[in-house]
Amino acid sequence: MQTVHSLDPLRRAVAHLREAGPLALVPTMGALHEGHLTLVREAKKHAASVAVSIFVNPLQFSPGEDLDAYPRQLERDCALLEAEGADLVWAPTVDVMYPQGFATNIAVSGVSEGLCGADRPGHFDGVATVVCKLFHQVLPDFALFGEKDWQQLAVIRRMARDLDLTRPHADKILGVPTVREADGLAMSSRNAYLSQEERGQAATLPAAMKTAIASIEAGKDVNAALHALETALRAAGFSTVDYASLRDAQDLTELDSRSARPMRLLVAARIGRARLIDNMAVSPA
Ligand code: PAJ
Repeated sequence: MQTVHSLDPLRRAVAHLREAGPLALVPTMGALHEGHLTLVREAKKHAASVAVSIFVNPLQFSPGEDLDAYPRQLERDCALLEAEGADLVWAPTVDVMYPQGFATNIAVSGVSEGLCGADRPGHFDGVATVVCKLFHQVLPDFALFGEKDWQQLAVIRRMARDLDLTRPHADKILGVPTVREADGLAMSSRNAYLSQEERGQAATLPAAMKTAIASIEAGKDVNAALHALETALRAAGFSTVDYASLRDAQDLTELDSRSARPMRLLVAARIGRARLIDNMAVSPA
């Protein structure tokens, strides 16, 4: 496994790997956990070689967010990736990714509005801009993203279609189901911010989401189910519920009753220093 930090060695490494067949890219911000490693394992099923990018992207953090606190552990991450059989780690510095005078922004309208887009202004512009650059840098045949970040996946699929980023288009963006801890909490690098007590309370999030989904699938009132979900989260120690929303799974339009198309329940809530997000499928009526 090779680790590179600048563009010339990246291009040489990528050209070499591409000779062996299809190349997959797994973009990450590091502090790797089983969720990320599952993406790498899945990538290996689809491609001859796997490149993993590790870059804590300042553009997708709003002022006052956790950019400085975000865990950085490149050596440990590289050891984990080597053990998984990844071929290349692309770990650019901020100066390499955003040279002096960098002035381009990619904004994907529609799916990036609302939900996390409303709570974190500019966040999805930052994600789209860096992912677009990563595609151009690594030239992958496939790229894998977690369903854990459902709205992010929708934004990237839209951008890939709109900007012809993959050959042939968005079916080369593969979504991988959320990997969870034993108690149901979705794995996240930000779970490291939780105290032991908060970590216990955090498991209420997936549990309360399942309760709400059972209620919606049983034909009960959607708004009442969402209200009960918010109440359960506050009672468990969450300080704020940024959103708890039933959406069309594909275009993310808001639903206030059960639909005949696949749906998704999406939640963002704060506990201690952490803002946790999760989403789950809701069966069509
Ligand atoms: P990061 O949060 O490091 O996540 C990297 C990838 O791992 C994303 O596709 C994310 O959805 C996926 N992932 C995280 N937790 C997961 C889990 N529990 N189960 C399955 N997949 C999981 O998402 C980002 O970084 C950044 O926004 C990025 C796309 C790299 C752009 O900077």
